[in-house]
Amino acid sequence: MAYKTIKGTHDILPDESNRWQELEKVIHEVAASFGYSEIRTPIFENTSLFARSVGEDTDIVSKEMYTWEDRSGGSVTLRPELTAPVARAYIQHNLGVKSPLQRLYYIGPLFRRERPQKGRQRQFHQFGIEAFGSEFPEQDAEIIAFGNTVFSKLGIKDVTLKLNSLGSGECRSNYKKALQDFLTPYKNDLSATSQKRLSTNPLRILDTKDPDEQQLIASAPSITDYWTADDQKHFSTVQELLKVLKIPFELDHMMVRGLDYYTRTTFEFISGGLGAQDAICGGGRYDNLVETLGGKLTPGIGFAAGMERILLSMNSDIKAANEKRVHVINLIESESSHALQVANQLREAGYQVTMDTLRRSLKAQMRDANRSGAVKAVIIGEEELQKNVVQVKDLSSGEQKEISILNLVKHFTV
Ligand code: HAM
Repeated sequence: MAYKTIKGTHDILPDESNRWQELEKVIHEVAASFGYSEIRTPIFENTSLFARSVGEDTDIVSKEMYTWEDRSGGSVTLRPELTAPVARAYIQHNLGVKSPLQRLYYIGPLFRRERPQKGRQRQFHQFGIEAFGSEFPEQDAEIIAFGNTVFSKLGIKDVTLKLNSLGSGECRSNYKKALQDFLTPYKNDLSATSQKRLSTNPLRILDTKDPDEQQLIASAPSITDYWTADDQKHFSTVQELLKVLKIPFELDHMMVRGLDYYTRTTFEFISGGLGAQDAICGGGRYDNLVETLGGKLTPGIGFAAGMERILLSMNSDIKAANEKRVHVINLIESESSHALQVANQLREAGYQVTMDTLRRSLKAQMRDANRSGAVKAVIIGEEELQKNVVQVKDLSSGEQKEISILNLVKHFTV
């Protein structure tokens, strides 16, 4: 085979696309129920959009982006995340003027040049939501409740919500300094990556997988000691609201997200059984992002969830029989107009109808009907054609009835 998908990218084949559509349907429904509107932004953007928002020193910007020089000059990048593009669109189209609170959601592909493994691709998909305009904890609770609703509607069990607050900008920079002061005496014991991060992004060292470093940071200063009184109050109200909403959570003060724009509340939903890549969703507040990108100071909060990981953590046998699906079996080789008409009549009545066009045997066509997930098969043979009837077979019970063509739609709708 000469051509294959590029490493870390996948085709979504027809067998699987049903599950994607089911997932997207739930996302659209939950978004409507929370009053979020869809936004679609381009696949590529100016490179500096990500460098300024996600951060030059993050893994995403420093080593994972697909970036190239455009023919007309200037550097462009395949989007590695969607919060920055959505904030860019919010500023560019003055969405804040249209309404003081903008609730947006999106579904789409993203690109990161990571090492592929289970639950980690180079092209992957996220659905996400972003709310611009409210600095208050009820907005944080609403965002988290949205995620929680999607995961429970999908029947994903074994999900843990991890919660932290990175504090305001002031808290974050004091904490950064405290971590640097604590870690600098041990600099030579740190890995090369952590040594580099010590000067650029010391919070990321808290994420280390190295057991010796984990032991060291166990006694490092805690972010909780650097929260301002307002940070503290905001975070405790978020927790109270989650308790009222009966959304269980665990506090994890070592959780630092891999993007630099976060302030205050950050969270991840972790799914058991996924292995190393177990975060199905990550998000948080970014009260300075819009201003950083050239807009007016506007608070914001959101999350994004990896759709491949969600599908991996869902039961794979969700394909339920579709009440609306019907398969028409035509056994008359010389005459197909009758079957085509029957199929159309049922489609007009709101059914999803497939029909054999390969002129195969009854046995083969019955096999197709069962595979298609149809609940009923409509069988048309010579005798039926003469009598102006069809046989309607219930595919789960096997029961078969002769129905007059004139009563066909009525028979289906009762
Ligand atoms: P993130 O944590 O980088 O956050 O990604 C969010 C989710 O996308 C992850 O929890 C994971 O499920 C999925 N994901 C990330 N990388 C990959 C990959 N290589 N393969 C498969 N799935 C992946 C963000 O992207 C932020 N923009 C989230 C956000 C929105 N924060 C505020 N608003």
